[in-house]
Amino acid sequence: FGASSTDSAGFLECLTVELQSSNSATSHLIYTPNNSSYATLIQVENQRPAATFPEKPLLIFTPFYEHEIRSAIHCSKKLGVEIRLRSGGHDYEGLSSASQVPFMVVDLRNLRTVTIAADEKTAWVQVGATLGQFYHTLAQKSRTLAFTAGVCPTVGVGGHFSGGGYSMMSRKHGLAADNIVDARVMNADGRILNRRSMGEDLFWAIRGGGGTSFGVVLAFKVNLVTVPETVTVFNVTRTSEQNATQLLHRWQYIADKIDDNLSTRIFMKSVTSPTTGKRTIAASFTTLYLGGVQDLLPLMKEQFPELGLVEKDCTEMSWIESVLFFARLHNKPLDILLDTTPPTRQFYKGKSDFVQEPIPVDGLQGIWRFMHEEDELNMELQFSPYGGKMNSFSESETPFPHRSGNIFMIEYGLYWYLPGKEEAEKHLNWMRRFYAYMATYASKSPRQAYTNYRDLDLGMTSLHSGNNNSTSYEQARVWGVKYFANNFDRLVRVKTMVDPTNFFRNEQSIPPYVASA
Ligand code: FDA
Repeated sequence: FGASSTDSAGFLECLTVELQSSNSATSHLIYTPNNSSYATLIQVENQRPAATFPEKPLLIFTPFYEHEIRSAIHCSKKLGVEIRLRSGGHDYEGLSSASQVPFMVVDLRNLRTVTIAADEKTAWVQVGATLGQFYHTLAQKSRTLAFTAGVCPTVGVGGHFSGGGYSMMSRKHGLAADNIVDARVMNADGRILNRRSMGEDLFWAIRGGGGTSFGVVLAFKVNLVTVPETVTVFNVTRTSEQNATQLLHRWQYIADKIDDNLSTRIFMKSVTSPTTGKRTIAASFTTLYLGGVQDLLPLMKEQFPELGLVEKDCTEMSWIESVLFFARLHNKPLDILLDTTPPTRQFYKGKSDFVQEPIPVDGLQGIWRFMHEEDELNMELQFSPYGGKMNSFSESETPFPHRSGNIFMIEYGLYWYLPGKEEAEKHLNWMRRFYAYMATYASKSPRQAYTNYRDLDLGMTSLHSGNNNSTSYEQARVWGVKYFANNFDRLVRVKTMVDPTNFFRNEQSIPPYVASA
């Protein structure tokens, strides 16, 4: 436990007094390390960051009302203790629950109301809702109203929408952030702003510029999308012996150009072949088609006959059933979407790339060699197709710049199960070697990355304890242009305007030009 108990007690006292003066009952809102629930609340989906940053939160604050957050901001300023904002807690580097310096967590899980206006096809979603809760509420209202956001139901709306939010429907409907039409944000002065009062610069920044930097997002208003009553899914797996390499090579020529209603995401793992007993690549072509199987089959036959798709590979279902299918919860009751427990607990490292030219066959074979290395069999590679609606936005329309010209995005996901620094270093070094190999095939100048797949290897800003809020523009630019390309400087300008003292910060937040203490 990094900070002294006095810091914890001091913060507790400040917060208690502040909350009581605003008539909030504090007993069920604040958790210190002495509370039995503290350890459960701080649990994250990925244990690795806790090992990287030894500081644990002085306390965890779980407000039920928006105005209660103001008290935490006030005490944070008064005592010089950093605030971390947490919605779903799925940050790849754990920055919502871990830090280099003493901090407290504002955990927004209790702000999770979803209000749907089916007639105008919009919804207000509070940030503490998970994607699963949002999808579940939508399904109660209608079979044809849906939303375009991520696959894992326990991911939080707050962090996910702030950084983009790629979906199985992004080729048809864009990112979650592309569909935001209004928001409620609390700024560093504790004022609550909506789109009109925050102005278009801040409204632009919070739709893809990443969480943390610009204030506490309280809720987003989004445009819902309309889906057919019946969609079709399939998950066809091919191994190296079944031409996986050639299929992947061919897929790159159609992934971003095929009908927008079709999205084939590929998940690859190194496995032992049941027939040869040797290592092979299993590539799963996981697909959503926004329509019926009778329309899908001719399309596949014309555009991707090599896959050899047949009717029995496909299942027709409702959109909400497809949500369960892609979350690997097929045939489970719908209410499982309300479960907020994150997936299995392990050590995880993620990275990302964007691919603009097809990777040649020998390049793919080099990837397989890495994946077959004995210690790294828990590696999963994902290729997610772009094109379609993703191309209809210019690079600067939102802070998320990865638009036209990208064929697909790669996610590198590496899991391991043994604790310890040496063990971690072994896996991380492997990942870095693999990433270096991929430089030939990835986007260049700069090599781009997806901010929601946060990667501290790209660079990190040094933070200071107490009331010294300064961070370096030069340090931040190194990773900033990778996530945001030419939008980085505009994000810095917005930050300078809305939070010049850099109150909202973490190791990869947007810095103001000059941070005064
Ligand atoms: P968390 O609460 O950790 O927040 C992430 C960041 O945003 C932190 O820096 C946090 O401080 C900040 N933040 C959180 N709430 C805020 C608020 N209200 N106001 C301001 N800042 C706030 N992505 C994708 O595009 N498509 C996908 O399909 C998936 N799938 C997926 C599966 C799994 C298992 C994981 C772990 C992750 C994904 N992701 C993903 C990545 C995901 O989009 C990313 O990790 C999000 O930032 C997670 O948002 P949370 O609110 O859960 O995280």
